[in-house]
Amino acid sequence: MKGLILSGGKGTRLYPLTYTSAKQLIPVANKPILFRVIESIRDAGIEDIGIVVGDTADEVQEAVGRGGRWDVNITYIRQEHPLGLAHCVKISRDFLGDDRFVMFLGDNVIQGGISPLISEFAGSAWNSQIVLTRIAHPENYGVAELDEEGHIRRLVEKPKEPPSDLALVGIYMFDHHIHEAVDKIAPSQRGELEITDAIQWLVTNGRAVHPYVHRGWWIDTGQPGDMLEANDLVLEELDYKVEGYIDRDSQVGRRVTIQRGAEIINSVVRGPSIIGENSRIINSYVGPFTSIYHDVVVENSEIEHSMVLEHSRIENVGARIQDSLIGRDVNISRSPIKPRALKLTLGDHSKLGIL
Ligand code: DAU
Repeated sequence: MKGLILSGGKGTRLYPLTYTSAKQLIPVANKPILFRVIESIRDAGIEDIGIVVGDTADEVQEAVGRGGRWDVNITYIRQEHPLGLAHCVKISRDFLGDDRFVMFLGDNVIQGGISPLISEFAGSAWNSQIVLTRIAHPENYGVAELDEEGHIRRLVEKPKEPPSDLALVGIYMFDHHIHEAVDKIAPSQRGELEITDAIQWLVTNGRAVHPYVHRGWWIDTGQPGDMLEANDLVLEELDYKVEGYIDRDSQVGRRVTIQRGAEIINSVVRGPSIIGENSRIINSYVGPFTSIYHDVVVENSEIEHSMVLEHSRIENVGARIQDSLIGRDVNISRSPIKPRALKLTLGDHSKLGIL
């Protein structure tokens, strides 16, 4: 069995995290979403993984490399234009051959435990397995309608009037019949070859498509708010480990991960939270549901329920920072220079809540 991860697309920026245009590389609980996807596939015993890349190919290749870190072999497949999920299958034909495979969207974060499902498909007689979950607004997704016996009746992409609340999660398993299906379908109204239409083609043509209903959480990280929510959920699941230094004047809760080279000096850190490699927390408070990525300094400040990306500095800030997404190389500090005023350098689409 092989793995196919879709990390192409237009590279539209996920404001305010504008530094990287590959949203699949934004760290959730200090690990890029794409790395979590690779690990789920590896944990199902799959060694050959193809990654479809688009505009952000260089960034993705630089971050992931050839896969040695995970003991897998990565093959990059270039997609010139984002012509749809089924188009990704088409251009991956040489890589996939006639093998069974799992296709994973590189920007989806799903509750752990999906790997056994993939292994189960490897040994099954099904031609395809799809993953569904019940959600409040299915109209933004592919939607499945099942019959009384739980078999698929039909699948529709982003229907205005959804026939059910069962959305297609970005994990799909196929055998070689999908190649015929992606050749037979026509582009949708949005001009894309939809994987939903290809799966409908399999169903219409009598192939066995098994719907699995996932009961845990699942997040498609399209909006910054989704990122904070994904961060909360992943932090809840982490195994906590202290590899950095905590001085005697600090109080660090049980569910806190301190990564290598990080230092906690005269501070309080409450979990679930994670402090990244070589970051320093000095005379500060870090509250629950906070991810501080690597090489960050937080000094004489308070922060909770937030994400801070690498090389940022938060110093002498009087008010507590909360519910915030702070990008890379950001500086937040109290300035001694008169006049006393807020001095801001904010990028496009920034949001600032003032006390
Ligand atoms: O997130 C689940 C949903 O994903 C499903 O419910 C829908 O049925 C499915 O069509 C898809 O919908 P989206 O419109 O949200 O897909 P999006 O365009 O965001 O692309 C998902 C990922 O695939 C993203 O990481 C970029 C990548 N991609 C997308 C396209 C269109 C590619 O690599 N190439 C492409 O051509």
